[in-house]
Amino acid sequence: MDKDITILAIESSCDETAAAVVRNGREVLSNIISSQIATHKLYGGVVPEIASRQHIKAIDQVIDAALEEGGVSKNDIDAIAVTYGPGLVGALLVGLSEAKALAFALNKPLVPVHHIEGHIAANYIQNKDWKPPFICEVISGGHTHIVHIKDYNDFEILGQTRDDAAGEAYDKVARVLGLTYPGGPQIDKIAKAGNSEAVKFPRVVLENDTYDFSFSGLKSAVLNYVNKAQMKGEEYKKEDIAASFQQAVVDVLVEKAIRACREFNIKRLALAGGVSANSHLREEMKKACERENIELCVPDIILCTDNAAMIGAAGYYEYINGNIADMSLNAYPGLKLGER
Ligand code: KG4
Ligand code: ZN
Repeated sequence: MDKDITILAIESSCDETAAAVVRNGREVLSNIISSQIATHKLYGGVVPEIASRQHIKAIDQVIDAALEEGGVSKNDIDAIAVTYGPGLVGALLVGLSEAKALAFALNKPLVPVHHIEGHIAANYIQNKDWKPPFICEVISGGHTHIVHIKDYNDFEILGQTRDDAAGEAYDKVARVLGLTYPGGPQIDKIAKAGNSEAVKFPRVVLENDTYDFSFSGLKSAVLNYVNKAQMKGEEYKKEDIAASFQQAVVDVLVEKAIRACREFNIKRLALAGGVSANSHLREEMKKACERENIELCVPDIILCTDNAAMIGAAGYYEYINGNIADMSLNAYPGLKLGER
């Protein structure tokens, strides 16, 4: 395509109000994120009603800041991309209503973006030459998927969690260890001072040939271990529990991702979603990929957790594929990957 395509992207599916300006799906002109974590921390997790209200308060400023930092005016924008699912319905509706209002007022196309496709597309920003086909392991607070990305808009889900998402397990284990929300980054941090072999927690691989995951057994094993120790008045080191739990998660995530690359004979693997910010996972996946001669793409941490630049990247490929929505576009909290 000769003409540059500049997209204003909006993301509000959970607890970050975010807007970004992205050119040609790869070049980030601005990426503004207003995080609500400090508020939700007080409650130990995201409170949906509070999330919606905070999005309403922040969204105009966030969009203005994205345009200003991106050095573009509203008229320079070719399209407006917005996350329309999955996520918290009230939260999604704030970004979606704003995007619809802007698209209508400016007479610009409205591009619907699937949140998980956004996470996957963070890799296109990270590595300007990265393109399908590749295997992507999507690991976030709400989702755990192994996906075969056949083309920009063609996905095959190879496996997914049957119960908790990986990030959910991190957050719940963190809570029982007395760490604040969101627990993933804190477990990551304290695990560095722990012994990952201190407690042998279960690695739930399920059937030999499946790419599905199950993290609830592991989560319960950790909770039981800690509760028992507390009841008996036994000492335990939080750092050891964190490191042992993390090792059990990482072993399974690495094994399944590498097996998918082998089976589909695809020597390219990408990570996506908040849990891919985990430093131990990044190290272990890198080692495994070097051993297997697999090219690995891992987005910078700011692109792993929720942001709007990734929505602008995914939105570009939707836009050039002609996926434009009208004003009847609704929010779909349970939208499945590959669903329209
Ligand atoms: O992708 P994301 O920002 O939001 C969703 O779409 O869910 O992921 C948030 C999740 C949370 O569960 C958080 O604890 C986890 O990502 N997370 C991490 C790390 N940073 C964020 N988990 C492990 N290690 C980290 N460094
Ligand atoms: Zn996300």
